[in-house]
Amino acid sequence: MNTQTPIIARPLHVVPNAANQEYPRNCWYIVAGRDEVGEKLLGRQVCGDRLVMYRKSTGEPVVLSDWCPHRGFKLSESRLVNDNVVCGYHGMTFNSDGKCVHIPSQSTIPNVMKVRSYPVAEKSFWVWAWMGDPEKADLDLLPESEFFHRPNYEDRYLAILPMNGNFQLLHDNLLDATHVSYLHEGLVDNEGEDDIATVKMKVDYGKNFIRTQRDLHNYRPKGDVAQMFQVEEGRPVLRRLITEHHFPCTCVIINQLIDPETDELLSEQIATLPVVPASPDACYHFAALSTSYPAPQLEAEIAFYSSILSQDTCAIEYSQQWADETGGPEISIRQDEVAIRSRRMIAEMVRAEQPD
Ligand code: FES
Ligand SMILES: [Fe+2]
Repeated sequence: MNTQTPIIARPLHVVPNAANQEYPRNCWYIVAGRDEVGEKLLGRQVCGDRLVMYRKSTGEPVVLSDWCPHRGFKLSESRLVNDNVVCGYHGMTFNSDGKCVHIPSQSTIPNVMKVRSYPVAEKSFWVWAWMGDPEKADLDLLPESEFFHRPNYEDRYLAILPMNGNFQLLHDNLLDATHVSYLHEGLVDNEGEDDIATVKMKVDYGKNFIRTQRDLHNYRPKGDVAQMFQVEEGRPVLRRLITEHHFPCTCVIINQLIDPETDELLSEQIATLPVVPASPDACYHFAALSTSYPAPQLEAEIAFYSSILSQDTCAIEYSQQWADETGGPEISIRQDEVAIRSRRMIAEMVRAEQPD
């Protein structure tokens, strides 16, 4: 008989699965790229709510509930006429405040015939909507970052990727850059020097905010990377990777190539990658870029980023399936601490909205 004591792996943390994270509502959410919202009706689900968006002839963005209150037709499948939405089913017309202003078959309009209108803001690349109590909407609560706008940089909106996974799984993914060495093998290859999975990370925590920084010394950009950052191939530089998360929905990843002798910033790429819950088990990953160097061909850039982000989509969808089919729980290690802190921050935002 084998009398040896079995070795049992002792998890550092066993925590609730990220796939079940709830979203707070009394905050600003990115609902679309600025350029996506125009004089065509755009439908999108955010925080479980179906939204219809458009821009008035004055340029002002509008966000309304997508459900017609008469019989639930989708207003995003309807028509925009003189800044009003004419429902595609029986023709009721709603203005940009959501008020019904015309019913084809009668002259009186019941007071209850209206759609919900969401407070809206525009900032950086994005259109934002306040998804909770409109009385609490406050423009001062929009996240602020030095990286949202850099003068003389080239800005471009790249893509929106829907994912079948809880938004927290995407925050976890973005907060744990060790996956870059494996899921995106070759993307940050540093040939025997500091590796992104092993290099020390500096972390700062603030109110609904986490910033991380990793410095890869002696980084020698080559091939596609040198071309992308438009720096000399093989020249040793400091590659600094910064992430900024403003919860619940904004993530910015900054890649800097720095001259190690002079500290001069040679090249900077700012990727804003909002994390937007669509429903409890689906989210969107938006992507916009701002660079110190001129934009290369947009199609090539979109293809490059889409292929990277599709690898993340795959991992996130596996995690969601795993949680749904087995219930988890996850077994976490030291590197997960930052992601777990983010879960607690978001959970605290949700808790703070509950009545006492
Ligand atoms: S469902 Fe919209 S007018 Fe009837
Ligand atoms: Fe990734």
